Amino acid sequence: MKTVFSGVQPSGTPTIGNYLGAIKHFVDLQKDYRSFFCIVNQHAITVPQNKQELQHNTRSLAALYIASGLDPEKATIFIQSEVPAHAQLGWMLQCIAYIGELERMTQFKDKAEGRSGVPGALLTYPPLMAADILLYGTDIVPVGEDQKQHLELTRTLAERFNQQYNDIFTVPETKIAGSGARIMSLQNPEKKMSKSDSNQKAFISMLDGEKTIMKKMKSAVTDSGREIRYDPESKPGVSNLLTIYAISKNISIKEAEQKLSSESYGSLKEETGAAVADILVPLQERHAELMNSSELDDILDKGAETARQASSKMLAKAERAMGLERKK
Ligand code: TYM
Repeated sequence: MKTVFSGVQPSGTPTIGNYLGAIKHFVDLQKDYRSFFCIVNQHAITVPQNKQELQHNTRSLAALYIASGLDPEKATIFIQSEVPAHAQLGWMLQCIAYIGELERMTQFKDKAEGRSGVPGALLTYPPLMAADILLYGTDIVPVGEDQKQHLELTRTLAERFNQQYNDIFTVPETKIAGSGARIMSLQNPEKKMSKSDSNQKAFISMLDGEKTIMKKMKSAVTDSGREIRYDPESKPGVSNLLTIYAISKNISIKEAEQKLSSESYGSLKEETGAAVADILVPLQERHAELMNSSELDDILDKGAETARQASSKMLAKAERAMGLERKK
């Protein structure tokens, strides 16, 4: 059975971009793959986090994974910092990564821009991500479009290690979700929807209530003209809403276009808001239940144990390959 691995940062509440571009696909993939889905809290601390908020967001993301349909019987769900092999292999991969290739990462450039003190870990973020993936012999990594460059570097590091030391790592494939791979900001459809956007109206969080969802959708920026058609070049706002509608309804963009083409912009927004609320509202009830339950802790304890066992084998192989094992 092939292995799938992916992760989400608990750096805020996930948005419908994270859901439609990643989490929804995790749920589909768990049926057919040996699955690991991680809450990457060590990646989140590459920029300053409030301690209580980070703890809360970590637990909340785990609850959202499960509320979205990840099944602990099928998938291993765990918190990155509870599995020390990630940081350990991350360090080893930093040793073979070049500063030049790390500096070329657009996420690094975006996050470093305008900061007076740039944390070193913002630069060394991708080798930790590579470690996450390579520890489990991962075959495929489902992510949104924005992670493509990190995945290419992961492949480069795996190949470099295999060549320089020992051929131990599986070189993973990137699996970018078709149409949901890049959900755009509701306020600026030229920009990716992001959970860290300072404008709350730019994104719908997975925990926004129905009223908020409808309000944010209503104020979504659309384009000139009145025609509803999928054309990301000249109609980025309308195309983004059509994409959100189509994936939420599990239909193709063509079908969404046909269904909504005779509507006004106002009803496109209303229909899209309702489609999103139909998914999020039931999921939020399950999330609330899990947040205060010991069931969630049991799942995370078990997940960490399974992940520790699975990752320790690859870590030992990598240490042996690099000469970190003590000579007796
Ligand atoms: P993060 O936390 O930024 O995002 C989690 C996942 O959501 C996808 N995504 C989107 N997809 C579509 N439209 C959007 N607007 C949108 N915004 C985010 C991301 O592409 C991602 O798949 N570095 C990763 C976390 C990570 C990871 C890993 C991922 C750490 N280790 C190992 C895969 C494998 C990140 O920052 O994701």
